[in-house]
Amino acid sequence: MRAKNPKESRTVMTDMVLPSETNPLNNLFGGELLARMDRAASISARRHSRRITVTASVNHVAFNRSVPLGSVVTVEASVSRAFKTSMEIFIDVWMEDRFTGERTKANEAIYTFVAVDETGIPTEVPPLKPETDLEKERFAAALRRKQLSLVLAGKMDPSAATELKALFT
Ligand SMILES: CC(C)(COP(=O)(O)OP(=O)(O)OC[C@H]1O[C@@H](n2cnc3c(N)ncnc32)[C@H](O)[C@@H]1OP(=O)(O)O)[C@@H](O)C(=O)NCCC(=O)NCCS
Repeated sequence: MRAKNPKESRTVMTDMVLPSETNPLNNLFGGELLARMDRAASISARRHSRRITVTASVNHVAFNRSVPLGSVVTVEASVSRAFKTSMEIFIDVWMEDRFTGERTKANEAIYTFVAVDETGIPTEVPPLKPETDLEKERFAAALRRKQLSLVLAGKMDPSAATELKALFT
């Protein structure tokens, strides 16, 4: 399979924050942002694999900044590493100042998607070839995150998580 670069799966979704999507403080409800990120990540995983893809795990979410009602929010997703059948998707969330148009990073998240066939059986995906420094950095750390996610899910014995163990030795 031909290796793809992260730009080929880049997915950008821009939308406003409406009143029905906010919490009592008039900020974007966390679950709404999770759903937007899941949709963008799903498209990104599909662009990379050209297969049906399902969310296997949400590995990391940081709600660093609240997003007020009326904000213009951009969710950017791209594949940061492809394994055999799974893909790590890195998602950056940006807020746009309504007067200056300046963008500030609001949140980020990392999801794992798995490509499956029509019967739900995991199927192979193309490798990913990172190009920029940021893409290379995210690629390098992805194996550690995969092992952590598998250990937390009870799908990997911690003694086999070599990348994780290397952090502490
Ligand atoms: C995701 C799913 C296909 C994995 O099936 P499975 O039987 O565990 O398959 P495998 O053990 O072969 O794992 C497939 C890949 O997923 C990875 N994976 C599975 N669980 C994972 C987790 N919690 N974190 C990270 N990676 C995970 C495996 O490491 C493997 O990756 P690789 O082939 O690239 O090395 C299956 O659990 C599923 O269909 N889940 C429901 C998905 C869904 O409905 N999502 C929406 C929720 S509403």
